Amino acid sequence: MGDLVVLGLGYVGRPLADRAHAAGLSVVGVDSDPAVVAALDGGPFPVTTDPAAVSTADTVVICVPTGLVGGEPDLRAVVAAGRAVGDHLRPGALVVLESTSYPGTTEEVLLPLLEARGLVAGVDFNLACSPERVDPGNAAFGLANTPKVVSGLTPLCAKRCAAFYEQLVDEVVPAAGLREAEMAKLLENSYRLVNIALVNEVAVLCERLGVDVWDVLRCAGTKPFGFQAFRPGPGAGGHCIPVDPVYLSTRARAVGAPCAVVDAARAVNSGMPAYVARRALDLLRGGGRVAGARVLVVGVTYKADVADIRETPAEGVVRALRAAGARVSYCDPLVPAFAVDGAEVPRVPEVGSGWDLVVLLQDHRGVRLGSPGPVLDTRGVLDGEDVHRL
Ligand SMILES: NC(=O)c1ccc[n+]([C@@H]2O[C@H](COP(=O)([O-])OP(=O)(O)OC[C@H]3O[C@@H](n4cnc5c(N)ncnc54)[C@H](O)[C@@H]3O)[C@@H](O)[C@H]2O)c1
Repeated sequence: MGDLVVLGLGYVGRPLADRAHAAGLSVVGVDSDPAVVAALDGGPFPVTTDPAAVSTADTVVICVPTGLVGGEPDLRAVVAAGRAVGDHLRPGALVVLESTSYPGTTEEVLLPLLEARGLVAGVDFNLACSPERVDPGNAAFGLANTPKVVSGLTPLCAKRCAAFYEQLVDEVVPAAGLREAEMAKLLENSYRLVNIALVNEVAVLCERLGVDVWDVLRCAGTKPFGFQAFRPGPGAGGHCIPVDPVYLSTRARAVGAPCAVVDAARAVNSGMPAYVARRALDLLRGGGRVAGARVLVVGVTYKADVADIRETPAEGVVRALRAAGARVSYCDPLVPAFAVDGAEVPRVPEVGSGWDLVVLLQDHRGVRLGSPGPVLDTRGVLDGEDVHRL
């Protein structure tokens, strides 16, 4: 019945299924979470929790989460999806892994699960990997106009993977093999992690040196070659930047070639929420007292204009401020409720005034700051006498 079955209907799978449906493919969405299926039921394409939908699909794309458990890569969802697909795979199908993971995952983890019923990869079905590159909240680049890296177990698998995505995106980029495609994704995100860590480290150093890091960035950013501007902030959050490089590091250690730069970058970014809290507490002390001080945190998502609080640095900032005795509230139009360590952070609909300190963590469009009193601006977007920038 389906040209395409998408397994995992989250941030990645949902837009893919939408795009394929819009391109005229017959799509079925499969998600193991009944709540996700219920929420999407009645949408443009059928959705189900039953992976048996795979049995009639030409193409099966796996977009399940690859997070961390105990600080280590967690491939349980990939394994569960692989088993489910393996149970129902029909001869002649193409199976694509889009989930981010370390080089070798498609061949070492997924392939054996798909072959469990006796079908042989590259012979009875095609196996491919095309890591997702979606950038949530990016209005300029979406699935269709972001080049898509494609790869296959065999040249025919790669060709079929390319032909599938050519229906959905403007440009496909063939990788030499599955491992190159998997590694390209980890390099992209590790590059971002490392550069964010570098500007964060420079921001901390600039404060010590009495140098305005934002002006340094403005100046350095005028170099037309060899420099790409990254901006400091309260730390790297979300589902990708703090997570994907762990896949790289763990694999690197396992093969005896540790990624020292990536590991150092993770440590620098992890320290940023505590650094921001320390700066906030210094300002509060300068203004009088910390215990009982009323602090408003503005923007608790991991990035601006995105309603996603996964791995958000706001958590560490709130935790440290509370530990010092401050009374913390938050303002974020995209987040209806926010709890840290199980304790709700009170929400205010507007920034208003009367705070001992406002800490700007994310500058969502449309949030009006007005003149709330002293502000610690971690994004370098505000000016004024009472504004203290990171
Ligand atoms: N979110 C991003 O911006 C982004 C960008 C690039 C790559 N990725 C990668 O894409 C993958 C998916 O990420 P996401 O953000 O869409 O995750 P998500 O958590 O938003 O969605 C994943 C969905 O998969 C479902 N699921 C889990 N196990 C399943 C199973 N066995 N069978 C069927 N459904 C299952 C979950 O219920 C969930 O709805 C991850 O590997 C991630 O690293 C994410």
